[in-house]
Amino acid sequence: MTNELIEKLQNIHDADELLAVAGKMFDGRIALASSFSAEDQIITEKIAKAGLAIEIFTLDTGRLPEETYKVIDATRRRYGIDIEVLAPDGDKLSEFVSKNGPNSFYDSVEKRKACCAIRKVEPLKRKLARLDAWICGLRAEQSPTRTDLQTVEWDAGNGLVKISPLAGWSTEMVWDYVRQNDVPYNKLHDMGYESIGCAPCTRAIKPGEDIRAGRWWWENPEHKECGLHLGPKKTETEKV
Ligand code: ADX
Ligand code: SF4
Repeated sequence: MTNELIEKLQNIHDADELLAVAGKMFDGRIALASSFSAEDQIITEKIAKAGLAIEIFTLDTGRLPEETYKVIDATRRRYGIDIEVLAPDGDKLSEFVSKNGPNSFYDSVEKRKACCAIRKVEPLKRKLARLDAWICGLRAEQSPTRTDLQTVEWDAGNGLVKISPLAGWSTEMVWDYVRQNDVPYNKLHDMGYESIGCAPCTRAIKPGEDIRAGRWWWENPEHKECGLHLGPKKTETEKV
């Protein structure tokens, strides 16, 4: 059954239509995960303008840049919407930071991934367990780890449908849309930041550098996923 729904959605090539159909299909069990990236902001504006019954949530790691909190407020005001803010488990975080210090992500890939697991991945999994579909702002162009991205996939790792309405968009298309529609965006983008995550793990990039070069810049490119978007691209039947 789910494969049929995925196939139906895969045949929709327009982002607005895809969001509208998916919103109805997964009524009350579908949400957008927003990091307030330009892509997430475009999807938010499409959801808000069309009045779709799709919730929006964010994973507040506790280490986000101040500019991201500002864009959260600007978005709430602009579209008159609530945004669900998910926090890490306080006990686990306290134990981890007490044992390893506040900035242990610089010490090793393992500690960095452990920090991402507590601050992002676990809160995300708790949220996804209550959904049938989630929407992301991923684009194939963003990274070598994302080149196979489809607009609609079975997310085998999390057991639900994953929708990336802007999978095929170029960076130029994103910024044209933001400017033409006056979409609120993170002001760090004006300071050379391309992809934005937590403050201590994000820096501006130089001209010609890869879009995600400023994320966990001290690591090798093949480690540069935090666990939110792992998992092979599988259909529901392939998962068994
Ligand atoms: S990450 O895995 O490296 O952090 P990236 O920053 O490229 O991901 O964002 C890709 C998509 O993941 C975003 O468009 C958004 O859908 C989701 N995402 C990333 N970070 C968060 C967050 N803190 N809260 C909610 N969704 C997020
Ligand atoms: Fe921790 Fe950095 Fe991952 Fe944020 S991006 S959760 S601070 S390791």
